[in-house]
Amino acid sequence: MSQYKCFIFDMDGVITETSEQHYQAWKQCADELGIDIDRTFNEKLKGVSRMDSLERILAYGNRSHDFTAEEKAELAYKKNENYKEMILKCTEDDLFEGVKELFEGLKEKGIKIAIGSASKNAPTLVNLLGIKDYIDYIVDPASVEKGKPAPDIFLKAAHDLGIDPSACVGVEDAEAGVEAIKSAGMLAVGIGEASVLHQADMVYAHTKDIQLADIL
Ligand code: BG6
Ligand code: MG
Repeated sequence: MSQYKCFIFDMDGVITETSEQHYQAWKQCADELGIDIDRTFNEKLKGVSRMDSLERILAYGNRSHDFTAEEKAELAYKKNENYKEMILKCTEDDLFEGVKELFEGLKEKGIKIAIGSASKNAPTLVNLLGIKDYIDYIVDPASVEKGKPAPDIFLKAAHDLGIDPSACVGVEDAEAGVEAIKSAGMLAVGIGEASVLHQADMVYAHTKDIQLADIL
């Protein structure tokens, strides 16, 4: 019997490639503000909440003080409307390779599956991707005080499932997310490059490369 009772998955960049749509929607928003963002800068937005992402973009363009709170809310709203339109066509085909097999493997072992995404759109994506039946719990990011890199989202999943954080594994593609998992006292599995996700306990290039036997 494994010491791990629950896997908490990030969504964007771990289960599906919606980090691309987030990037495209932010890029459009930044372009309209005359701020030039690229994919390297985008690494700093991964896992970060909507409003914090906007603040990072404005700071990057030295425009932090150019907008009222209402104007910022409007910019974030527009980005989200744009993003929602982009993900509308997502289907089961947009699931990353290996996700279903991984979920089946966890279910067979009686290990719970949670979604710990900073995205308020995660429940919509779970439905569009057809994975609802595998998921035991989806954290509502609005229900926690602090977003990633704070541990709150991961701790909320563990708490509400009644599982000790030390018996949880977090899976993340973002630097901020891996930091959040480690601060929560959980095992951190990184998806991507080890040089970026250096705090992770183990790193796989893609979700399909995850070896449950090695982790458990
Ligand atoms: C994270 C993404 O999962 O969710 C970020 O990596 C995004 O890019 C954040 O900003 C918040 O998402 P949303 O859908 O609530 O704007
Ligand atoms: Mg992510």
